[in-house]
Formats: sequence, structure tokens, C-alpha cells
Amino acid sequence: MNNPIPYGRQNITEEDLEAVVSTLKSDYLTQGPKIAEFEEAFANYVDSKFAVAVSNGTAALHLCALALNVKQGDKVITTPITFAASANCVRYCGGEVVFADIDPETYLLDIDNVRKLLEAAPKGTYKGIIPVDFAGRAVDMEAFGELASEYDLWIIEDSCHAPGGSFNDAKDHQQLCGNGNFADLAIFSFHPVKHIASGEGGMITTNNKDLYEKLLQLRTHGIVKNDNKYKNPIEFANGADESRTPNPELTVYPAWYMEMQDLGYNYRITDFQAALGESQLKRADDGLKRRREIAEKYFKAFEEKNYIMGQSGVVEGHAYHLYVIEVNDRLGLYNYLRDQNIFAQIHYIPCHLMPYYRELGWKEGDLPNAEDYYRHCISLPMFPTLTNEEQDFVIDKVNSFYEG
Ligand SMILES: Cc1ncc(COP(=O)(O)O)c(C=O)c1O
Repeated sequence: MNNPIPYGRQNITEEDLEAVVSTLKSDYLTQGPKIAEFEEAFANYVDSKFAVAVSNGTAALHLCALALNVKQGDKVITTPITFAASANCVRYCGGEVVFADIDPETYLLDIDNVRKLLEAAPKGTYKGIIPVDFAGRAVDMEAFGELASEYDLWIIEDSCHAPGGSFNDAKDHQQLCGNGNFADLAIFSFHPVKHIASGEGGMITTNNKDLYEKLLQLRTHGIVKNDNKYKNPIEFANGADESRTPNPELTVYPAWYMEMQDLGYNYRITDFQAALGESQLKRADDGLKRRREIAEKYFKAFEEKNYIMGQSGVVEGHAYHLYVIEVNDRLGLYNYLRDQNIFAQIHYIPCHLMPYYRELGWKEGDLPNAEDYYRHCISLPMFPTLTNEEQDFVIDKVNSFYEG
């Protein structure tokens, strides 16, 4: 029996271990210098102005929804073919999730379906859109950006699957996922199956300074530590008596002083996780290159096979977090591969048909493309350290299931 082949796997090198250990030996376990270093390096990598590292991708989404002021009843559009967190962040703030169907070719949120929803409702009905660079394929964020400005909506780009991914804009310029040129905010996850692993971890990128500052504050309990931004009088801060008589001699806030000005959270990443993330980021381009090689080989192997109804394919700018094929008898193939120690996975069970969302009124038949996709999709092993032999074995087993 071969060693188990998972659908995704992290790769921790000696350099990664050294980066973590040296941080553990330093003065900081959390809120140390590695966080700012990782943020700067990541912003640089995706070509955004600002980056805020957080405890995981879900926290990143929650903070984005808070920073954009999602409130009770606000309607936000997203895709059903994603991890539930892309939608749940709206619910955390009391908003309403409206799922729009996917494009069956790209598996991404179909902009035409989003436009139809917007056209069918009075302007102002919807507040935002959360497109997802599903599987690593970049959404055409320029087109979504235009639609969003037409309807005065914000955009959170869920780029968890696509660090380093890109699309080409109308002028044929490369636009990296999460670069902030079209979306207000973008988020990433550093869960171990993702391109960059930090254990748990996430990042928000943006070009908007106000949102950036708001996110920093919300990440740490809504606390502000800035003399120029305090709301309480300087006399109070210094511990003056209750009369609060203005005292011109008090000109500085004491060093201990801080204010909680908003209801925030503790969504900080630790310094040693940031060290791991930063170390992994240095190899991100190599990983991406290897993922693209693997995708090309899958594509060529299955291109002519009539039992492959669809596949991720070879797409410029695709970051290949996943390689999806669509097949009949998906359950049979899945179980057959498991018997061969190949642990393929299904991405995703449509979000709107999760019991939680069914209870909110969603039902089968609402989003036929997503539901049809779910019946056929299966994600094959895709990670940079997958060997050629392992990939050949996977391809061979897929073929032998159908060809006998
Ligand atoms: C598309 C998408 N969005 C959000 C998340 C949430 O990220 P995390 O697991 O780091 O909370 C994930 C990760 O599984 C994801 O795949």
C-alpha cells in the first residue's frame, strides 16, 4: 500500500523551524516585530498598500464585515460554492446572506446573476458583495468593481485560495488577487492546506487607510493608543478628581493610558505564527509554480477523457489551491480512491443547503448550477510536494476506475 496521499498538505522546512524557534526564544510571543514584518512582506507580495494579520481567515472576514459596518438586515451577495465562513461573516453582524449562482465553466460567482439580483431590487437594497477566488481562480474583480460602484456597494474579496493568483484587466494589465485596486478589502487564510501555512492565521489587505486603521483597532478589542485620538479628557486620563476641572498643566496623556472606543475582539496572530507565515511566504512563488505544473499535467491527462465532464483546466493566473474534476459516479470514484489511499475531497457542499441556511429559507433548486456542480465535483491531490510518481498514481487510479 502506498503512503496516504491527501488532497492538500503543508510543507515545513528547516528554515521555517528556525524562524519559529528563534521567535520563541525572543522577548515576544505575541504582538512582537514579526507581525509587522509579515504584514509588510505580504502586502508587498499581493501588491496592496496595507495588510493586517489576524488569527485566522474567518476572523479576517468578521473584521471586514465589522469595518464595513454590516448591520442587522443588511443584504450581502456571495457564492454558494465556498467555505461557509465567506457567508457566515455577514450573519455574525446580523446581516442577510443572498446567494447567487455560479458560472458552471469557472465555478465562480456569476456576475450576470449578481447583476440580475441588483436590477430586480430598488437601489440600496444590497450593501455589498463577497466574491471568492474559488480553488485559486481569480475573479474578474475589475468587472465586479464596476458593478459595485454602479450600485454603491462595497466588496470583500475572499482570496483564501489565491495568494499569488491574478487576472488580466481590460487593458491587459496583470491584477493580483487582493491588491485592493477594485475590492475594498481582501482576505487570506494560512490554514495548513493553503498556500502559506502558519497553523491558524489570516490576513486582510486593502488600499484604504481608514479601513486599515479601523481593522487594527477592531483586531485588538477596539482599543486606541494614540494621544491625538482620545475621547476622554486629559484630566480624566491622569486621574484628576471628579470635578474634572480643566487643568492647563496637564499636557500629556500618561503612558499607561488607552481607550476602548469600539466593540472589538482579540483576533491577533501570535509572533511565532507570523514568523512561520513570513518564512513560508518566501517560498510562495516556488509553490505556485509547482501547483501550476501539477495542474497542467492533470489537464493533459484528462483532456481527452469522455468521463471527465469538466475540470479546473489551465487558466492564466490560476493559483490552484484545488484541482477540481467533474465526473459521473463521483461517490464511486471517491470511495475507490480512498481504497487506494488517495484522499480526494469535495469542495464544496453548497453553502445554501447547509441546514443552518436551509432554516433561513434556502432550498434545493434555488441555485441549479451550484447544485449540479456539487453532484459531480471532486478535488484531486494538489500541493507543491506531491511527487510526479504520486500524481501518476492518482491519474492512473482515476482512469482505471472508469476504464477498468
Ligand atoms: C474560501 C475560504 N474562506 C474562508 C476560509 C476561512 O479561513 P480559516 O479556516 O483560516 O478561518 C477558508 C478556509 O478554510 C476558505 O477556504
